[in-house]
Amino acid sequence: MWNYCLLRSNDGSPAASEWKENMSTERYLTFALGKGRLASKTMELFEKIGITCEEMKDKHSRKLIFVNEEYKLRFFLAKSPDVPTYVEYGAADIGVVGKDTIMEENRRVYEVLDLGYGKCRMCVCGPGSAKDLLKHHEMIRVASKYPNIAKDYFYNKKHQTVDIIKLNGSVELGPIVKLSDVIVDIVETGSTLQENGLEVLEEICPLSARMIVNQVSMQMETERIRKLIHDLKKNL
Ligand code: PRP
Repeated sequence: MWNYCLLRSNDGSPAASEWKENMSTERYLTFALGKGRLASKTMELFEKIGITCEEMKDKHSRKLIFVNEEYKLRFFLAKSPDVPTYVEYGAADIGVVGKDTIMEENRRVYEVLDLGYGKCRMCVCGPGSAKDLLKHHEMIRVASKYPNIAKDYFYNKKHQTVDIIKLNGSVELGPIVKLSDVIVDIVETGSTLQENGLEVLEEICPLSARMIVNQVSMQMETERIRKLIHDLKKNL
C-alpha cells in the first residue's frame, strides 16, 4: 500500500501541491515522454506538483534516462511513436504523447488524461482544387505520416476507397510534386500549408497531449497513479 503526502511548495501556493510517496517504496514509477516541446511542457507541469528532475534540464546531456531518487521516479525521452510501445509492454508505466500518435499506434494502453497542451488538428489538406475529389468520392492518392489514421478516416468514416502513401516528413510536398492529391497531416498554426499554397479541406479531429498508462501498472499502482492524475488535473 502506497502512502502520499501533500506538501506546500516553496512559494507557499496552496494550488501547488508537492507529490510525494512513502520513502519505503521500492519500485520506481517510470515515465516515457515524447522528445521535444511536449517533454519540456510536461516537466513544467510536473514541477507544479513538486515532481522535478534537475538533470533533465541540461540541454547538452546525451543521457537517455533520468532519475528522481527522492520520489522513486524515472523519466526517459523517446521518439513519439515509440512511447505507446514502451507503455504497452510495461517498460514504462506512464507515457505522455500526442493524441495523433496514440491513434496511429493503436496500442493496448489506457488513455487517462487530456493535458490540454500541444493543441492542433488532424486534417485532410491539399490544393483548393482537390475539394471536388473529396466531395465526389473519387479514387485519390493520400500521402501521410499517419497511414492508419488516414485509412480509418477514408475507409470507415467517409467510405471512400483511396490509395494511401506513407511518408516520413515534409508531407506537404506530396501534392506539390504530384505524388498525391491530398495529405492527412497535423495543422497547428497553418503556416506550413499557407506557405506552400495548400489549405485545410476537411478536419478529422482535434489533438492534444495525453497521458497514457500501462494496463497492469494501473492495477498494481492504482493509488499512486490516481493521485498523480488528480494532482495534475488541479494544475491544468
Ligand atoms: C508538422 C506537421 C506539419 C507542420 C504543421 O511537421 O507535419 O508539417 O508541423 O505545423 P503548422 O501548422 O504550425 O505549420 P513537423 O514540424 O513535425 O515536421 P515534419 O514535416 O518533418 O514531420
